[in-house]
Amino acid sequence: MATNHVSDDIAELFDAAKAVRDHAHAPYSGFSVGAAIRAGSGQVFGCCNVENSAYPEGTCAEAGAISKMVAAGERVIDTIVTVCGGELVGTPCGGCRQKIREFATNDTTIVVCDLDGERSRYSMAELLPDSFGPEHLSGSAC
Ligand code: THU
Repeated sequence: MATNHVSDDIAELFDAAKAVRDHAHAPYSGFSVGAAIRAGSGQVFGCCNVENSAYPEGTCAEAGAISKMVAAGERVIDTIVTVCGGELVGTPCGGCRQKIREFATNDTTIVVCDLDGERSRYSMAELLPDSFGPEHLSGSAC
């Protein structure tokens, strides 16, 4: 029986992330991840992790979803939902936190799910406090 809840505000993203997770290429870790972003326009972009036999060349699900969003001309992450298995809450890795940060606002929500539904949700500041972002570069010439 499903124990976790999928609230209405993330239902579309949860379904998209869970579906794209089925396409994960994770033969080395065996850990499949799906991610789906609702961008500023409302459009949804999803991707899975894509591992590589040259291990460091693998890419995370969040990174793929962000690339799709940017390639479509979007620059704001309203909400990002990730879906993975495992007992522990599968929070985004450090690199993905920084990648999300690039396109986050004060209202961006990051929702971490397992296959049954939501485990935790965070603001960007909760996941990456005192973070470095684009505003640090603007107006600085040195
Ligand atoms: N992974 C993600 O896709 N997102 C994360 O934020 C954490 C880790 C992937 C990378 C690798 O393919 C597998 O999960 C195990 O680390």
